[in-house]
Amino acid sequence: NYRTNMLYTNYLIIGSGVAGLTYAVKIAQRFPNKTVIIVTKADEHESNTKYAQGGVAVVLDLVEDSFKKHIQDTLVAGDGLCDEAVVEMVIKEGPQRLKELMHWGASFDVDESGKLDLGLEGGHSEYRVVHHKDITGFEVERVLLQQVHKLSNVTVLPHHFALDLITQHHLNITKSKNITCYGAYVLNQKKEDIITIKADTTLLATGGIGRVYGNTTNPTIATGDGIAMAYRAKAEIKDMEFVQFHPTALYNNKDGRSFLISEAVRGFGAILRDKNGQRFMPIYDNRAELASRDIVSQSIDAELKKSGDTHVFLDCTHLDINAFKNHFPNIYQECLSNHIDVEKDWVPVVPASHYLCGGIVVDKNGQTSVANLFACGECSRTGLHGANRLASNSILEALVYAHNIYAYHTANPPNPNYTNIPDWNYEGTSIPKEYILIQHNIKRLQAIMRDYVGIVRSNGRLTKAARHLDLIYNEVEELYKSAKINTTLCELRNMVNIAHLIISQSLEQKHNKGGYYNIDNVRTDKVSWLKVRL
Ligand code: FAD
Ligand code: SIN
Repeated sequence: NYRTNMLYTNYLIIGSGVAGLTYAVKIAQRFPNKTVIIVTKADEHESNTKYAQGGVAVVLDLVEDSFKKHIQDTLVAGDGLCDEAVVEMVIKEGPQRLKELMHWGASFDVDESGKLDLGLEGGHSEYRVVHHKDITGFEVERVLLQQVHKLSNVTVLPHHFALDLITQHHLNITKSKNITCYGAYVLNQKKEDIITIKADTTLLATGGIGRVYGNTTNPTIATGDGIAMAYRAKAEIKDMEFVQFHPTALYNNKDGRSFLISEAVRGFGAILRDKNGQRFMPIYDNRAELASRDIVSQSIDAELKKSGDTHVFLDCTHLDINAFKNHFPNIYQECLSNHIDVEKDWVPVVPASHYLCGGIVVDKNGQTSVANLFACGECSRTGLHGANRLASNSILEALVYAHNIYAYHTANPPNPNYTNIPDWNYEGTSIPKEYILIQHNIKRLQAIMRDYVGIVRSNGRLTKAARHLDLIYNEVEELYKSAKINTTLCELRNMVNIAHLIISQSLEQKHNKGGYYNIDNVRTDKVSWLKVRL
């Protein structure tokens, strides 16, 4: 059986990627007498952040570039569904937030003149992506953890899995108009205790959902837990149909984490070819390989459907190999370890699920529709990305919103709230004989999402997906109610919630926009690549 215990903190943060850690550093520095607890379900550094490659998009060069251009690029990539005020705010705040990160010790590449080296990526009209080689996220995560560990009022609890948010529902208050969050129930994965963490305010910074699909660039932590918890707490969730597929994940013929070949490699001049060597992107978009991600992924999908092939190729053989190795040492090595020498061989690539543009709806202060509950980073839906995120705008968004939430909490300090919170109820649960069913259901779920809810959808496929998902939902709920819970079971339950949200919101979306394409919808605006496909 579990043991239970209770903790109290002023600020509870769930997740230790760029969003959670940036907020933690700021709030803990500003209020040294208050306590911050960060719970995180794996090792403290494990996160999507750690694997970010391309960099952080910011306007630094006001001669060649301008805020106006970055705003315009973001709006175009978002295909008409961005919140323009949010776009302007995030882009104008970007340089200040980047300076802070550098002040904390983050190092980014510089050119011969000592200025920050700016990379180019799809959908950007100018070079503006600040990077640390091709391992920018690793550097960002390193620096933020270093800062966090300097602060004596921050406690990091690795291998602690947040199970559910505590709301009136757990207090048996059924008729409450305003849902409020009082903290979270958290499983200590090593000791198997379930801890009740009571908090004045809670921040969800739990990242993305990539793992709902079998083929993804995301690490195993990306199971959409925060969004699923918020959904169960009845927070508003939006834009879940806008799953972003990255065009160039290394093809490896297996489900699981696919190594990413950064968009910056195309910014560096790499070319997409079919197996006969034919370059195809110019047929679809006049920006060719540097069109926005939705267009490149949909074009590759169209090519693969036409040819019946499993992948296309990224050709880097014409590029300056020394410059390539200097800029992309990690990508170069990973390809070599897969017996691909980028100087001579084309790199086999295929689109893979990468990023969620939607999520928990927040206002400009990161406030969700649940009182005392905030969300930041990939799990949140701010309105910045619209129907398709512009490359390297994600870390930027997390930095800006972490600051906004910190500023809001400085002006409006959260107060201790409800005291009478019950322990987690685990009565009637036992160790199930068939934990293997959990693994089977994860595989089934990922197959449903791959086969019916991929880059190109149809009403028929979505309806089929919903039917198949129902079976898994019933099995998982039954198991959840009767079994001694563990992390994998809870992740599966969360992934089922996420899949349901993606499928149902896809069926509600009647327009093909950005990363959402349903063959049964009529596209209202005229885009040349679509005409080619039809
Ligand atoms: P994450 O960094 O994913 O952190 C989430 C944290 O929450 C993790 O610590 C996780 O363990 C924890 N967590 C989750 N669920 C629970 C739970 N139930 N209980 C406790 N803890 C939990 N974006 C860019 O802007 N530029 C790039 O160059 C770039 N490259 C990328 C390359 C790759 C391969 C990938 C996968 C993504 C890339 N992105 C990039 C996207 C970007 O990295 C992420 O969107 C961003 O880092 C998300 O930060 P986050 O803090 O919101 O979430
Ligand atoms: C990449 O380096 O291609 C990823 C960039 C991003 O996800 O923004």
